[in-house]
Amino acid sequence: MSSQAAIVPLTAHAAGPLRGTIRVPGDKSISHRALIFGALATGVTRLTGLLEADDVLNTAKALQALGVPIEKVGDEWRVSGRGVGGFSAPRAPLDFGNSGTGTRLMLGAIAGNDTTVQLTGDASLSRRPMRRVLDPLKQMGLEVEGDRERLPLSVRGSSSLIPIVYDLPVPSAQVKSAVLIAGLHAAGETTVVEADPTRDHTERMLRHFGAEVAVAERNGVRAITVQGDAELEGRSVNVPGDPSSTAFLVAAALIVPGSEVTIEGVLVNPTRTGFYVTLAEMGADVAFRNEREEGGEPVADILVRHSALRGVRVPPGRAPSMIDEYPVLACLAAYAVGETRMEGLAELKVKESDRLAATAAGLAANGVPAKVDGDSLIVGGGKSVRGGGTVATHLDHRIAMSFLILGLASDKPVTVDDGAMIATSFPGFADLMAQLGATMGETSPA
Ligand code: S3P
Repeated sequence: MSSQAAIVPLTAHAAGPLRGTIRVPGDKSISHRALIFGALATGVTRLTGLLEADDVLNTAKALQALGVPIEKVGDEWRVSGRGVGGFSAPRAPLDFGNSGTGTRLMLGAIAGNDTTVQLTGDASLSRRPMRRVLDPLKQMGLEVEGDRERLPLSVRGSSSLIPIVYDLPVPSAQVKSAVLIAGLHAAGETTVVEADPTRDHTERMLRHFGAEVAVAERNGVRAITVQGDAELEGRSVNVPGDPSSTAFLVAAALIVPGSEVTIEGVLVNPTRTGFYVTLAEMGADVAFRNEREEGGEPVADILVRHSALRGVRVPPGRAPSMIDEYPVLACLAAYAVGETRMEGLAELKVKESDRLAATAAGLAANGVPAKVDGDSLIVGGGKSVRGGGTVATHLDHRIAMSFLILGLASDKPVTVDDGAMIATSFPGFADLMAQLGATMGETSPA
């Protein structure tokens, strides 16, 4: 169980030029959804490129415990769907480890089944807010024991869910997706209204599986409607490379002099590419090559070269399209000339850790001027980065990877107190960095 994983301190040292052409593991958001929609379909769903990281594997295990046969044959994952509402009662609590996405999306799928299910997770996940999904799901008919709002939870779904119209109070694709997934089980149309567009993989992939999904857009506000009593059909999905994992490699190549790296087959869905818009404004030499569509999602090869960067203001409206990239952007900003001001980051406080606080503390520990001002993060860059600090990662994979990147061009090495959580989203991260020429490894005892 990830909550009992051994602690692995890691250290990154200044690197020579990073060079090479590589691929990153599959997109985490798409991997969770492909497994869940395959389980809700009838017939066999075949998945290639699935992210085999702890978060996604925990979703697969949860589905198996709910009676969904899932097996790996060669490079292909096969999900034998049980149909919408076809889960059976699990014999033990479902353990989602570190994954908010797995927990929240699965709550939507569980809601439509007349069974009692217990959900648990690690210390980080048990601190994260679940009311944001439980509120709408309760309106639809989910019962939550003791009216709890964090894991561990015991919930009972219903085979006659009520369709709702739900205005998202927070810009969250996880909440949107949980309600739409529950809506597949309801009798009638369920609508989610979002003022700030969040990642739209659920909408795209539900259509791919044959669900009826309508999207109406007015003045930037999107209303997504899914038809209930849905019947999904098993499909093939080839999962593209994860742009959030790619961001670490891109950042590394940008700060290490002489670097030139190509990352092939990366998802470039516009609801995920705010980081790349920001990089262009900072003066980064990053190009999307060979843009194409694969399985209903835009994909490209990303070419990045070391660049002189300038600090920028990142507006709050961009946050949903780069929400997971702020910690690594903040580390990159340490190497840019001038101040970088990132605004509208309230949601960062409820990720695997309080990423606003953790990022500012990690930068300060390595001699980089950083401060939190309300929901904004301000980083002063331009001088050489001292490094030499140890960063508290708070069970957060992205804090760990971001600060290992910071250490690739700092005067002294940067240590993260625990790199074990990197396996939740990016297995093989340190090996891939080594392939490109970066030194990153277990911290030797003092
Ligand atoms: C995700 C949505 C985002 C993101 C997370 C994955 C998804 O979370 O941070 O890593 O797959 O829907 P929120 O929906 O909570 O913003």
